[in-house]
Amino acid sequence: TLFHELTGISKKEQQLKAALKINQVIIVPSDIEQDVSTYALIGKEAASIVMQKAQPNCKIAVTGGTSVSSIGPYLQPHKALQNAQFIAARGGIGDEITMQANTLVAQFAEQCHATYRTLFLPEHLSEQAYSAMKDEPIVKEMIELYDNINIVIHGIGDAMEMADRRQSSEEDKQLLLEKGAIGEAFGYYFDEQGQIVHHIRTIGIQLEQVQQSDCIIAIAAGASKAKSVQAYFKNPVRNTIFITDESAANAILENL
Ligand code: BG6
Repeated sequence: TLFHELTGISKKEQQLKAALKINQVIIVPSDIEQDVSTYALIGKEAASIVMQKAQPNCKIAVTGGTSVSSIGPYLQPHKALQNAQFIAARGGIGDEITMQANTLVAQFAEQCHATYRTLFLPEHLSEQAYSAMKDEPIVKEMIELYDNINIVIHGIGDAMEMADRRQSSEEDKQLLLEKGAIGEAFGYYFDEQGQIVHHIRTIGIQLEQVQQSDCIIAIAAGASKAKSVQAYFKNPVRNTIFITDESAANAILENL
């Protein structure tokens, strides 16, 4: 838009897209850390991308978090979303029910008259519990769904904040610190070089499954997330659309 041109945002979008090596970047003006109404701008943009990218019968995997939850109010009944299925990309996290993937898929589906699938399992599973669960029919079915996802919607978080939210043990947090974990996305922790330094053993969408989907919508805003975002995008998946605010965008561009 003209506003975009005049404020230089479209130039920043191009710069960021090239730096992160992805398909598209959308920057909303303002700063989420100063003005919470920025979530509405982000949610609106993300919802319109979902509606643009949706295909009949598409399967959309959704993770939790505040950024992803901002989409809900802006989804509308849409031809392309008629037979869409929103699929919880993972079980619960911590105890914040309003930001869980399970809650969000139900909300999203209701907004646009689509269907949804939930996955109610603890996020952390012991090795024993994990291998037992894997063979449960319902879990098998979910894993198969994750193999055939068209669109993934996910947030990117600060590694230590996510460890806190997940109520990780002090021991695990210490380990993350030692390994230099900075960014986190769908249960994977990344260091500054983008190496995976830890991965939560859980039933949920795996990195390979995210990478093989047709379109990935990543949402993260606020300058404090700049380093985390950069760590995550060290292994860029080209068909990603990254939606962020101007303060994160500025911070990332300054770090380059
Ligand atoms: C979730 C992701 O969508 O968002 C997490 O699964 C990520 O991996 C989190 O860290 C970030 O949450 P928020 O609330 O900062 O958007």
